[in-house]
Amino acid sequence: MSQELYKKAVATAAVEWLRGKVGADTVLGVGSGSTVRHFISALATAELRCAGAVAASESSAELLRATGVRVLDLNEVGELPIYVDGADEADAELRLIKGGGGAMVREKIIASAAREFLCLVDEGKMVERLGVFPLPVEVLPIARGAVERALRERGGEVELRAGFISDNGNEILDVRGLDFGKPLDLEAELNQLPGVVGNGVFARR
Ligand code: 5RP
Repeated sequence: MSQELYKKAVATAAVEWLRGKVGADTVLGVGSGSTVRHFISALATAELRCAGAVAASESSAELLRATGVRVLDLNEVGELPIYVDGADEADAELRLIKGGGGAMVREKIIASAAREFLCLVDEGKMVERLGVFPLPVEVLPIARGAVERALRERGGEVELRAGFISDNGNEILDVRGLDFGKPLDLEAELNQLPGVVGNGVFARR
């Protein structure tokens, strides 16, 4: 099966899993990326009614609206029952790397406001140790050089995501070669660098 068909299959399975858990008063958290696009389409096809969704990216918001789902602001909603999103990599402890689509800052915020995170990955994204996929780090443009140097000091090979600006107006550095021995510590440590808005390690929850 191709990767695209796997993505469709997990998206369809996610909608089935949601049946009975989602009602007319449920607001869903919805992430970003191609798997999520399949999920939004599957949601529409299944005619699963919900009160609306909080979207992690402008593109997901647009697609949700196009399929008739009301898009809400996280600030007007509060806690969410379920957040649905894909990932670029997952290990056996379900720690993730996200941000291939550059939306990981909003994704992490919305995920942290949800009681459950339904993560849509297939076998192809399971790794023994995180770090095969380059780690996305979102930086304020003014801090790019300083953050790049700090990442190199930690053994990272840094590449600026060319021509890409996040929905928050920031740049993304894709970093290979960092030590993922303690993902939880790495997630926290990178967030401490001045100018880093967020990073794609999802290890805290
Ligand atoms: C976007 C993400 C996505 O969930 C991740 O990149 C997976 O994308 P896809 O479903 O296209 O493989 O974190 O920021």
